[in-house]
Amino acid sequence: MPLSPSSLLTCFSLFFILSSATKIGRGYRLISIQESPDGGLLGLLQVIHKNYIYGADIPLLQLYVKHETENRLRVHITDAEKKRWEVPYDLLPRQTVPSFKQTLGVQSHKPSDYAGNELIFSYKTDPFSFSITRKSIGETLFDTTSLPSDPYSDLVFKDQYIEISTKLPKDASLYGLGENTQPRGIKIVPNDPYTLYTTDVSAINLNADLYGSHPVYMDLRNRGGVAAAHGVLLLNSNGMDVLYRGDSLTYKVIGGVVDLYFFAGASPLAVVDQYTALIGRPAAMPYWAFGFHQCRWGYRNLSVVEDVVERYKKARIPLDVIWNDDDHMDGHKDFTLNPKNYPRPKLLHFLEKIHARGMKYIVIIDPGIGVNTSYGVYTRGLASDVFIKFKGMPFLAQVWPGAVNFPDFLNPKTVHWWGSEIRRFHELVPVDGLWIDMNEASNFCNGLCQIPVGRICPNGTGPGWICCLDCKNVTATRWDDPPYKINASGTAVPIGYKTIATSAYHYNGVLEYDAHSLYGFSQTIATYKGLRALPGGKRPFILSRSTYVGSGQYAAHWTGDNKGTWADLKYSISTMLNFGIFGVPMVGADICGFYPAPTEELGNRWIELGAFYPFSRDHANFYSPRQELYQWKSVAVSARRALGMRYKLLSYIYTLSYEAHLTGAPIARPLFFSFPNETWTYGLSTQFLLGSGLMVSPILDKKKTKVHALFPPGTWYDIFDMTKVVVSKMSHYRALDAPLHVINVHLYQNKIIPMQRGGLVSKEARATPYTLVVSLPLGAAEGEARGNLFVDNDENPVMGLGNGQSTYVEFYAHVNQGAVKVWSDVREGEFAVEKGWYVEKLIVLGLKGIGKGVAIEHDGNAIVDDSKVEMSSIEHEIMDDEIEEREDEM
Ligand code: GLC
Repeated sequence: MPLSPSSLLTCFSLFFILSSATKIGRGYRLISIQESPDGGLLGLLQVIHKNYIYGADIPLLQLYVKHETENRLRVHITDAEKKRWEVPYDLLPRQTVPSFKQTLGVQSHKPSDYAGNELIFSYKTDPFSFSITRKSIGETLFDTTSLPSDPYSDLVFKDQYIEISTKLPKDASLYGLGENTQPRGIKIVPNDPYTLYTTDVSAINLNADLYGSHPVYMDLRNRGGVAAAHGVLLLNSNGMDVLYRGDSLTYKVIGGVVDLYFFAGASPLAVVDQYTALIGRPAAMPYWAFGFHQCRWGYRNLSVVEDVVERYKKARIPLDVIWNDDDHMDGHKDFTLNPKNYPRPKLLHFLEKIHARGMKYIVIIDPGIGVNTSYGVYTRGLASDVFIKFKGMPFLAQVWPGAVNFPDFLNPKTVHWWGSEIRRFHELVPVDGLWIDMNEASNFCNGLCQIPVGRICPNGTGPGWICCLDCKNVTATRWDDPPYKINASGTAVPIGYKTIATSAYHYNGVLEYDAHSLYGFSQTIATYKGLRALPGGKRPFILSRSTYVGSGQYAAHWTGDNKGTWADLKYSISTMLNFGIFGVPMVGADICGFYPAPTEELGNRWIELGAFYPFSRDHANFYSPRQELYQWKSVAVSARRALGMRYKLLSYIYTLSYEAHLTGAPIARPLFFSFPNETWTYGLSTQFLLGSGLMVSPILDKKKTKVHALFPPGTWYDIFDMTKVVVSKMSHYRALDAPLHVINVHLYQNKIIPMQRGGLVSKEARATPYTLVVSLPLGAAEGEARGNLFVDNDENPVMGLGNGQSTYVEFYAHVNQGAVKVWSDVREGEFAVEKGWYVEKLIVLGLKGIGKGVAIEHDGNAIVDDSKVEMSSIEHEIMDDEIEEREDEM
């Protein structure tokens, strides 16, 4: 919903008024500190001066500090006398905070430093503050001592308001804190409002809080040319504003506890590794999920869907997955089929046909369950008492089916019921994955509704809209109207706006107020369990709109309802890159935009970029004209080219997803992940890397046919035309040709990437032989290159070695005086041999002269068999290497 400039102004001013109005506490005094039996620190904090702004201060706090691993430090602060809400440990498993008996008034711990391998925790007692220092270079990473600009910025801890601040050096580059649109790129921007509270607001040109909540940031600092990164997570599910001023950062949180985790890094990849070691490694994805997906809202019957699949085939544009929005449903009700438009026998026949080609089918599920006594999903849910409650009754809201109740996924009974509904539905329609939408949770009306008495809203704009006049705003309690108002939705609306009233409650009396942002996450886990438990339980594929810390362990994400505009094309890169940092590497935006329709030119540019999103799906709104890629002749050409390349690179992308699963390494990464010392990459939001090998430099502006792309030092080969090369001695911008059908993708030096022949469906592409492309620094007489390949049975829920259904290969190339030796190290090669997968060709790029040739050494495996390998070496002329002016991307 677009905002007028005046309302934007209002919400900005409101935000700043609110932020400056919070000089409300004089902090706490440390009155006791001792070593805890588990080797951590345990302290007691006593409030210095009580005050009552935003409620009374909690008098006594417990401080617990622990080096949980060599590179992870935890600082946990909570009420010393009363249990407070925390992210449930069964939802996000982690070390518990032991409860200890403390001796009041005994200062039993000295000195004030508590050092781990790389991080040091130090504290001051009165007022209490702490700092975290990187031991190796003595640099302070986090420091809660009063800010010079705000002497009252000490710790504030009230029931419904917590405030904690850190000082930061002005030259720190910060990334993360989402989900938001990030119109200003990948870096966190000083004085932009960062509100974290899951909300159904379509992507607008403002850093408004969107569907997910990820209170984590990465901080990258360059000291004399050498960079070090660390991460900071505030594990808290309550609504919060995070205010970054350029030299400080303040969390203003409306509940829960302070549970800060510090990840020492020091490379960006190490930060994500350490982060996902805590929150859960990204989900194993099936191979086909990296194929192209076509979706739209408004495929009014099965024939339309059949036609779409046929027309993709006819246009020779790759397609792996066809999706249905809620059009297949009977009256927008989950787990049902519309008997007229999607008759089951016909649908089953269609699925048999596409499944035989290796294609897949996914449908949408919304959490709102239609209130309807002749609807089995609802009556069974009611009988099992699975819904979120309000005053003893299921909370009534309105979504697509009209009146709905929301399942409470924190309740084990709900998880069980949801799993059995998934099983029933799967018996009806053998879907290959589920798309869970509207799970912020989105409610079309504010607050509590009454069953409408047949009244259809005069200004209802969508199918199934009923009149929200039948709903009452709930503002009666301190949960619905908390003392501190977060900047929810960028409009400073009440926190119950278009969602479940925050005084509604879950299983065990848990308040929606506390658990709100966990709704989509808890639904994702329940859905994952349901899919895993299906007979023959294959590797699940779930796409979720709402996410929280840890969602990546179960699901992919798309960036929600974007616009078919050039601006949104651009923003998609930053949001995607942020999700890599959040541990959700399987991410993409609606290609061509959700609404309104893109121009033909934009359609071209979007598929060129979207072909390199980890999750590549075209999706459109009910009211948009059709925008499948074959609808425009020119877009079809770009799609064949860009997706054609994606399908040649699928095994490379899949191997990246394996690395993501093992270490959290994002599939799509900012350039600074590979070039952390190159400050030019720090704010770069218009290009990205796939793994460490490929750099994507798309056109993002109308009528442009040249892209100004940054090239960090080294040799970069055009992956579409390997005779073209860019050599960069130092980071510099180059203008590259990019006529309508061209996207620039470059392979970096010292890599070995597996490529295949491609195909129209991933199953077919996967069965083709491999070409190994070895990239050497141009003209190198000496040097090395490395690469890897992971292949497996992608139906197996477990992704990894040791089950007889996978093979992992590391490739090496060594150049010595112009002669190249290539060899491979194969683990569990039997699987690949059985499949008949082999390397048919080896291309060496950058070699100085081919006289000395290329030799292959192998250890008897069939992946690299020299009798089958055709070798070629491409020589290059350095292209016109005109260096452009450096642009300051900081
Ligand atoms: C939401 C989703 C969108 C979907 C629509 C109808 O707006 O974000 O992708 O098409 O609901 O289900």
